[in-house]
Amino acid sequence: MSKVTNIFILFLSIIPTVILGRATSPLIEEDGPRARNRAAECVFGKEVKELGSQWVPDLGVPIGVLYCMKCECVPFHKKRRIVARVQCRNIKKECPIPSCDEPVLAPGRCCKVCPGDNYNPDIIQDIVPQSTIDEDEKSNKHFAALLTVRSSLILRNDDMQPIPNENKNNVVATGRFTIQKKNLYYSFYISDKAARPRALQFVDHDGSILEEHTLSSAGGHVSSSYQNVTRKVCGVWRRLSRNYRRLLKEEKMFVVLMWGTKDVTEFTLSGQIMKYVALGTELFSSLLEPAPNSDLTLMAGSGGTAIVSASTGLSPSIHIAVVFNGIFTANETSNVPVNITLSLDERRQIILEEKVKVSKPVHELNVIEVRSPVSPADLRLLTRGRLVLSVSSVSRPEALRLSGNVLTKTTCELFQTTLNSSGNDKNANPHGASGLAWVYLNSEGSLVYNVQIENLKENQLPAFITLNDASTKRKTELEDLTPYFNNGWANGTLDKLSPRVLEPLYSGNIVVNVTIPGFNSLIRGRLSPRFVADARDAPAPTLLRREDSELPVSTTGMVWLNVDGDCQIQYDVTLGGSTFSDRKMELVLETLPMIAPGAPVITRVLEEFRGNQVEGASTEPLPREELMRLGTGVAFVKIIDKTQQKELLKTTLPQIKLPSSCAPYFPENDIPTQVLDPSYIGHIEACFHEGKFYQEGDQWTTSDPCTMCFCQNGNPKCDTMSCPKVPCSGNQRTKEPGECCPVCLNSSYLSSELSGTKKCSFGGKFYSPGSYFHPFLIPSGFDLCTDCYCDPGTFEVKCTRQNNDKLCCKNCPVTKAFVDSENETYVNDPSSPNVIYSFLKPVTSTRSPQEILAAGGCKNFENPSQPYENGQKFHPWIASLGEYKCVTCKCKVSTK
Ligand SMILES: *[C@@H]1O[C@H](CO)[C@@H](O)[C@H](O)[C@H]1NC(C)=O
Ligand SMILES: *[C@@H]1O[C@H](CO)[C@@H](O)[C@H](O)[C@H]1NC(C)=O
Ligand SMILES: *[C@@H]1O[C@H](CO)[C@@H](O)[C@H](O)[C@H]1NC(C)=O
Ligand SMILES: *[C@@H]1O[C@H](CO)[C@@H](O)[C@H](O)[C@H]1NC(C)=O
Ligand SMILES: *[C@@H]1O[C@H](CO)[C@@H](O)[C@H](O)[C@H]1NC(C)=O
Ligand SMILES: *[C@@H]1O[C@H](CO)[C@@H](O)[C@H](O)[C@H]1NC(C)=O
Ligand SMILES: *[C@@H]1O[C@H](CO)[C@@H](O)[C@H](O)[C@H]1NC(C)=O
Ligand SMILES: *[C@@H]1O[C@H](CO)[C@@H](O)[C@H](O)[C@H]1NC(C)=O
Repeated sequence: MSKVTNIFILFLSIIPTVILGRATSPLIEEDGPRARNRAAECVFGKEVKELGSQWVPDLGVPIGVLYCMKCECVPFHKKRRIVARVQCRNIKKECPIPSCDEPVLAPGRCCKVCPGDNYNPDIIQDIVPQSTIDEDEKSNKHFAALLTVRSSLILRNDDMQPIPNENKNNVVATGRFTIQKKNLYYSFYISDKAARPRALQFVDHDGSILEEHTLSSAGGHVSSSYQNVTRKVCGVWRRLSRNYRRLLKEEKMFVVLMWGTKDVTEFTLSGQIMKYVALGTELFSSLLEPAPNSDLTLMAGSGGTAIVSASTGLSPSIHIAVVFNGIFTANETSNVPVNITLSLDERRQIILEEKVKVSKPVHELNVIEVRSPVSPADLRLLTRGRLVLSVSSVSRPEALRLSGNVLTKTTCELFQTTLNSSGNDKNANPHGASGLAWVYLNSEGSLVYNVQIENLKENQLPAFITLNDASTKRKTELEDLTPYFNNGWANGTLDKLSPRVLEPLYSGNIVVNVTIPGFNSLIRGRLSPRFVADARDAPAPTLLRREDSELPVSTTGMVWLNVDGDCQIQYDVTLGGSTFSDRKMELVLETLPMIAPGAPVITRVLEEFRGNQVEGASTEPLPREELMRLGTGVAFVKIIDKTQQKELLKTTLPQIKLPSSCAPYFPENDIPTQVLDPSYIGHIEACFHEGKFYQEGDQWTTSDPCTMCFCQNGNPKCDTMSCPKVPCSGNQRTKEPGECCPVCLNSSYLSSELSGTKKCSFGGKFYSPGSYFHPFLIPSGFDLCTDCYCDPGTFEVKCTRQNNDKLCCKNCPVTKAFVDSENETYVNDPSSPNVIYSFLKPVTSTRSPQEILAAGGCKNFENPSQPYENGQKFHPWIASLGEYKCVTCKCKVSTK
């Protein structure tokens, strides 16, 4: 709200042109320890606006829409970077003068127009129809880049000096790029000999940085298990603005990988992002590097990539498109033949050999294609990553040669599904079995799979889990995952994968089919391809369980949740087993420091949605407590029906490994004690003590009967009592279990039946008849100057103030009070003239409590409607004693 107010003030004071909001790449303006890679886009209020977009600002209640303002998200250069800014101006002056005498101002407009005139100069025509965007995405979906040192792009640093490029090891990389819903998913294979690059940049042909992502911190560490296992670099550039989508479409964008540190770039690889037809059917990829024994001087900085498609039907064939450079001699300028071979283990057994002519060899990118039938056996070798592709010069075959293994395709993809039965048929799925599955291919071409099944009863075993091809009529069984099924999970790796799995897998036609004796198919789900990035780069998804019994029995869901380097939360939820399209739902994250009575809960609505799928991210970094709770506490994800306010599905998340940029608050080896860190609990204004949470101002007894605590500013303050002297000895003195101090009971009471059952109550605690104790006072602890006694006859607590100058305050009034044990209020004792007791006098102020607090006043816990004025003196009010005159407090500007 305060942000909105500021904007409003700016508007009023700096019209007509104000520049507000910053959406800069904080890589330029370092703010704190986090290396953020904010995109060049604008944030207005809480909305993200893409570069080039225009809108009429809506400032919300009470200001509303400013119809005469036009805001725009404009790009501008900041050294080498293109960043975005919100620019707003008053368009009133631009209104054309109406041609009629009595123009009218229609509601929601800025300019007056003549009645009947359809011309609306003040309407922003900024919306591109979704169908146009979809069409465009369909025809401009796949891109690839070869990243070598032979790139035409000249990179300069911020001082416009060319960046030195010492690629001594001839590192090569290749990238694949796919646009989906305006997001650009990217993936790379990089030479094994290179460490993981530090950063990635998308740049235009001038070398201006359009987008920059940090890929790893120092040491090339990668926290993603998918990227670790597949040796790929994966990520996404979200919300590509239309200008950038156009650049991409026109092949005018470059990608750069950078090694070194933030301050010193050691070397870079760059390449132009191009469209290749073969990408639409790519099943395998290859990264080609200068071959062993080739002339590394002649071939310095060269490389290639292959896009391999295969038809795995009855007469298998393959198609290879190779993008490469570096194998031409200086005098080879036209119609130069190159030799392309596919062999088992580097030239031992040649499977394919073909000579192809390159009509016009160039320094940067050359493309050749071959197509050939292959045997089913060769196809199996191809699937298992055993074949080597090489491209060599015909004139100098040994010296000028590129080669590389044919691997799982570069794209970072996994395949996932929920497992459910159809509808609410209890006979078909009597115990409501449900589950999830996700699989991916590793760099060796093995299928890594994880299947989770719940509510499978003993009598339903053995269960069979198979992968079936749903694109064939017979739903051919391709692979059997059953042998690994144990304890609700089937986790494993298929290293002899049938080549017939690949095509249906990439096209979303593989079904995970769970059958039990007597049922054809208990539950199943179709694996659908998803790009690995953000939420789906988490180690594993979590199964959502049905909470609402009115939902079909196998209603289930899967949730991916991750925290990125900007400390923003990313989520991806898929629901199955029921139709959700007609429900208004909320995806809710609840976090707690731990499961304990009274534990404070933070509830965050991540998104409102309809349907079976929701994916997104918070637009701002999560606050520290929530990050702590995600990392070390307890988190629930819930799907809530918004209309009926009931829980539909729910799960407990495993603890999330936070990126180092978001976990500066605790060392990794010391997490449990950090949760109890008083400064942390203090931040949330609740006290944690002996496994329980207490609210600010609460007092409580502890496991030690002599110790009492209270909660102040989020810190438990505890004090241990030393018992008052008791006026009895020997056999008159006993101690009750759970009681701190001895009890004095003369024989008549000892034998009485009352003993042990009824007790005195005082200050929230119970005392045995005959016990002596000191009252517990907030904030000073046990008041050693007051002795209290639980009268065994009346069950009243009687307290006496000791006039002990050494121990007690010198000039405080001597109080003697009686406490009614049930009412717990003080009453005057008129029989004692030295009792000075008065109830708290109401503060008379003309200001409201809010005003008093806002002006630095202090909270009055006893009477919240009458806070103390800043500077006001008062006696504290103590739960067990009332107003405590021995202490005078003064309210000094309170920030709360
Ligand atoms: C990455 O892989 C290596 C070896 O395969 C393994 O030792 C390491 O723990 C993995 N790291 C992560 C983050 O998965
Ligand atoms: C091209 O240059 C190579 C040396 O780089 C030489 O051996 C060869 O004869 C030349 N070929 C032609 C056609 O000039
Ligand atoms: C092509 O390369 C293969 C091995 O790499 C070699 O055996 C073959 O002779 C070469 N063919 C031509 C025409 O150079
Ligand atoms: C599982 O649920 C989805 C809807 O969420 C449905 O489309 C699908 O048909 C169900 N699966 C089966 C085997 O019925
Ligand atoms: C299977 O893998 C999942 C996700 O990695 C893991 O949570 C689960 O414990 C594994 N189950 C078994 C039985 O190995
Ligand atoms: C699941 O497996 C059963 C038994 O093998 C088979 O009859 C059924 O067609 C399979 N269903 C699918 C969708 O593949
Ligand atoms: C026992 O205590 C009660 C209450 O304090 C008192 O009235 C009574 O006189 C006492 N009796 C003896 C024998 O001390
Ligand atoms: C509580 O105190 C009020 C007046 O102070 C008195 O009228 C009432 O009887 C007391 N209640 C009990 C249960 O002693």
